[in-house]
Amino acid sequence: MESLKGLILSGGKGTRLRPITHTSAKQLVPVANKPVLFYGIEAMAEAGIEEVGIIIAPETGPEIEQAAGDGSRFGVRITYIVQDEPLGLAHAVLTAEDFLGEHPFVMYLGDNLLQGGIADLVAAFREHSPDALILLTPVPDPENFGVAELAPAPPGEVGRVVRLVEKPSEPATDLALVGVYMFTSHIHAAARAIQPSPRGELEITDAIQHVVDSGLRVEPHIVRGWWKDTGRLEDMLEANRLILDNLVGSQEGELIDSRVDGRVAIAAGARLERTTVRGPAVIGAGAQLKDCYIGPYTAIGEGCTVSDAEVEHSILLAGSSVCDLDGRMESSLLGRNVTVRRGERQPKAYRFMVGDNSDISIL
Ligand code: DAU
Repeated sequence: MESLKGLILSGGKGTRLRPITHTSAKQLVPVANKPVLFYGIEAMAEAGIEEVGIIIAPETGPEIEQAAGDGSRFGVRITYIVQDEPLGLAHAVLTAEDFLGEHPFVMYLGDNLLQGGIADLVAAFREHSPDALILLTPVPDPENFGVAELAPAPPGEVGRVVRLVEKPSEPATDLALVGVYMFTSHIHAAARAIQPSPRGELEITDAIQHVVDSGLRVEPHIVRGWWKDTGRLEDMLEANRLILDNLVGSQEGELIDSRVDGRVAIAAGARLERTTVRGPAVIGAGAQLKDCYIGPYTAIGEGCTVSDAEVEHSILLAGSSVCDLDGRMESSLLGRNVTVRRGERQPKAYRFMVGDNSDISIL
């Protein structure tokens, strides 16, 4: 078999995470203070993949290139591939054809997070040599995903793939397609053979159905660990929670009359004064925390300032500041350089999803 390549899809528009993604790529929104995209690159490196192509959009591509660089710090070589318009996941594969050549490849959606990485899948792909391998997992809202129908199988076995439908209004099963796929070069012909879907995209789901219809072998795998598509606010917070659940605490910052309970990672240059942090939580480099309480499942980004405030189960992107709140801020996502501060009258709890460079005074 030719060596396995990696393809990460980080183009697209990111409309569901607006306003956060008005000014930046959704794949760079951090989970536990690390861009979502980096988890995908690391998963590829861990699985022994050396050549990784990243699909980028003209608008957000430069920012992604700057963040991930040439890949050397992950131990991979990155080639950036510009997709002029987000015309679908199968269109992205066609855009990457020169990079992929005849190589089999792992395709990873840049806003997806998969617990446990992909090393086992790569091993199964190598061992069974199917024409494609897809990952499935039961979800409560299958209408928001590609959905698979499998043939009946004896207990303990997984039936073959019968039908795949992208975001069906009446899903036949609750098995969603996870955004990690393994393909052989058969996928190129399939992507060329299909027509755009009602949403105007060349769907990878339709291309895989085409592979099935051509009589080729598509192997389904049921995901056992957790998987998250971080496209929406609730999913971002949930992904943050899941990653922080496995956090290893570390303390490089400075603590003055402060207390840390449980697993908390405090980066270098952070300064905590008369502050209590209850883990799991991460505090980014250079963050300044004064007279505050940081509750579980919170990620405070680099250079943030929090004073006289309580923050819990929230993500603050770099450079944001929260000051002088009377109630607790919870389940919120603040963009970069956001300022939230108290006016004169306050409610007891706050909940925000605020884009970059905003300034909020609560009256
Ligand atoms: O998350 C899993 C789901 O991902 C699957 O269940 C669906 O079958 C699959 O179609 C996909 O659905 P989404 O609607 O969630 O895909 P989204 O538009 O969010 O794009 C996924 C990633 O691919 C995202 O990082 C942006 C990138 N992308 C998207 C398009 C449409 C591109 O790079 N180019 C594109 O043309």
